[in-house]
Amino acid sequence: MNIQEHVSLRPYNTFGIDVKARYFAEVTSIAELSWVLQQNSYPKKLILGGGSNMLLTGDLDSLVILIGLKGKEVVSSDDSHTIIRIMAGENWHDLVLWTLERDLGGLENLSLIPGSVGSAPIQNIGAYGVELKDHFVCCELMDISTQTLHTFSLEDCKFGYRDSYFKNEGKGKYVITSVTFRLTSKDHSLRTGYGTIAAELEKAEVFHPSIQDISKAVISIRQQKLPDPAILGNSGSFFKNPVVSKKSFEKLQQSYPDIPFYKVDEDEIKIPAAWLIDFCGFKGLRQGDAGVHEHQALVLVNYGKATGAEILRLSQQIQETVKSTFGIAIVPEVNVL
Ligand code: EPU
Repeated sequence: MNIQEHVSLRPYNTFGIDVKARYFAEVTSIAELSWVLQQNSYPKKLILGGGSNMLLTGDLDSLVILIGLKGKEVVSSDDSHTIIRIMAGENWHDLVLWTLERDLGGLENLSLIPGSVGSAPIQNIGAYGVELKDHFVCCELMDISTQTLHTFSLEDCKFGYRDSYFKNEGKGKYVITSVTFRLTSKDHSLRTGYGTIAAELEKAEVFHPSIQDISKAVISIRQQKLPDPAILGNSGSFFKNPVVSKKSFEKLQQSYPDIPFYKVDEDEIKIPAAWLIDFCGFKGLRQGDAGVHEHQALVLVNYGKATGAEILRLSQQIQETVKSTFGIAIVPEVNVL
């Protein structure tokens, strides 16, 4: 296997930031992954999936390992459910299309999310009322220090809102090699209640939607609001939506009666960070080649030659202004490296 030197990571991160990796290797089999993890002459190693949830702020002196493990298989299928096992290096949206071609239900609301299958559990990707965890059975992973293979159940992964074991206690310990999902074979449960899906279906005059129709509606909504990373560098939502206590939300509501919210449970309220950022006047703002997207204030963009440091600086200004205006700390959902 070939370990390259001084490789530009621009094609491997959706922000399109041009930094270099001191060493770089793509692994396409479990044996290659095991071998490369054993190379002690490269003490610092960084695992790279789709590069869709990271902001690179400088050159990396590590060995960057690109996960190129490919393969999709149907493990079992009966009248009600189908179990599929997907290798980590597969593209997420290609997987969603593959399930829809087979009329398997579950992932349609997660259409067009950038990134790879192996990265998806790390932040428990979610959109339009569905999260990865809703269809997750288990994942296989390799222990980085011992190269042993393990299987983690739903419970082991400790999924939360854009959160999992892999972002906390398990950070830097494992490489996810495959993910297994449980999908419906028929009688799919359609989730059209979130956001503008119902309105989008009505606009398209679809009155009895299929899972394929829902996917099309989600794709259309995302294309209207979210920039395509192939055209304009970005990493999706840059921040998580903050969760505050019901009591502090009610206080905020007195000063800002129009503030939108989602109820998390009896005691907690989630506030769209996009609204907070928009209110502070950042939407559409551009500083050099770093900017805030004109249609979605939660998305930071690279107009071409922005550095990671410039985008980070803009994100910090946003955090400070939101904090001083609303007293709310918003935290990045992307990994800043
Ligand atoms: N809003 C504004 N200004 C804006 C955009 C939105 O005020 O520029 C307000 C509106 O009131 C809107 C509300 O914010 O109703 C929520 O906006 P939106 O429906 O676009 O969703 P979001 O909360 O900003 C989350 C996810 C997205 C996901 C959408 C749809 C997070 C951090 N983001 O965004 O996920 O696609 O819901 O489910 O939870 C991602 O994680 O990369 C991502 C794109």
